[in-house]
Amino acid sequence: MSMLKVRRSAPINYEITVPGDKSISHRALLLAALSNGTCKITNFLQAEDCLATAEALRELGVQMEFFSDANLVIVEGCHGKFKPPATDINCGNSGTTMRLLAGILAAQPFRSRLVGDASLSHRPMQRIIQPLSLMGARLSTENELGCPPLVIEGAPLKPITYSMPIASAQVKSAILFAGLFTRGKTTVIEPGRSRDHTERMLQHFLIPVQREGRQISLHGPRIPESRDFQVPGDLSSAAFWLIAVAAQPGSRLLIKNVGLNPSRTGIIDILVRMGAHIREVVEQTEGGEPSGTLDIKGTRLRATTIEGDEISNVIDELPILAVAGALAEGKTIIRNAEELRVKETDRITAIVTNLREMGVEVVERDDGMEIQGKLPLQGARLKSFGDHRIAMAFGIAGLFARGETVIEDTDCIRTSYPEYENTLRKIQKRGGLLNRRTPVIGMLNFRQRGNRA
Ligand code: S3P
Repeated sequence: MSMLKVRRSAPINYEITVPGDKSISHRALLLAALSNGTCKITNFLQAEDCLATAEALRELGVQMEFFSDANLVIVEGCHGKFKPPATDINCGNSGTTMRLLAGILAAQPFRSRLVGDASLSHRPMQRIIQPLSLMGARLSTENELGCPPLVIEGAPLKPITYSMPIASAQVKSAILFAGLFTRGKTTVIEPGRSRDHTERMLQHFLIPVQREGRQISLHGPRIPESRDFQVPGDLSSAAFWLIAVAAQPGSRLLIKNVGLNPSRTGIIDILVRMGAHIREVVEQTEGGEPSGTLDIKGTRLRATTIEGDEISNVIDELPILAVAGALAEGKTIIRNAEELRVKETDRITAIVTNLREMGVEVVERDDGMEIQGKLPLQGARLKSFGDHRIAMAFGIAGLFARGETVIEDTDCIRTSYPEYENTLRKIQKRGGLLNRRTPVIGMLNFRQRGNRA
């Protein structure tokens, strides 16, 4: 069982890229696998979660080849038809694999059984079972709690209009994928705006998607047209470095080739509200996904309140935003975030426990927490709770702590960001080495999001 040891850091001065976006990598594989030809995916995230999707697709008869160079994957599309699996489909730790794949398998004419690791085996599947059952699918879990294993008996599906009780990109995507196999119009109504990678990627694979306010529709049956796809860097991975730098006066960081899809950039808005100096430039849009450069300068952060519609935009960033709250002046409040209780672990309890270990005053609420900012933090021995984002968020907290911080059981980091520790070490070692040839500051199209740094 590996562990991460971190000590207080001097100001950081560096330029990095982050690996491919996890959500986008899953979707690119799934749509390429359903398509009518060969698709080349570059900058694919070769981390455990996305590799679980790849393995699942292989089990379903999809052929693909991985090349480590440029993190390239070449996928042979199956024209919408998978083969019956010979064994259980193991989704590992990945809720995205299980929920998105369920939308597709619901319409395939065979039985499949989807299993996961201990964490995934405690995550709710009723949220996809309910809408997919309304479409005529036959899904059940092997326990009355509605958690995996998930058994799917493929059946012909009919389109529905479904008003989602929670803002969830995974549920929305499962329904839209199932909609590809129905005759007619499938509509999903979101209570709040969740990440929209599925909608953008469907369009890239030439499947028209209509969005009117909170309603998203597509017409089936459709087979995606094969397309190449370039995955941008993952803003949720960049988020750790954003806080490491934004909260450290004297630090400076450029993050290049990072995804800047507005359904994910809530983290930048919140940090700017906390007084952070961040500039953002969108340099390209590929496959419908904008990406570009972030330029961050360190300062002392101020507390804020994160609530309401904003929550779904930063759902994966709340652990590191809670750490930002602990480093800020004043009381940071996170509310309406009860979804955190059903992530890879109960992230509200995990964050509150670890912040308290570091000497921070925190009040736990059913749907969030109140954090009294305090600097420096106290180094401590912390648990990862087997959750990659908890492990990585507290690795960053350790950069601001007196003494040593040890995070136990950090193998989970491999689910989304295998290079995290390397980047952490490089950033700590290489203060002052920002590549000065990079002409980012002063670029004409530079859109300033934060205060002028
Ligand atoms: C994801 C959606 C989010 C997020 C998860 C990835 C996706 O979950 O927490 O890490 O790729 O669709 P919900 O939208 O279901 O909350």
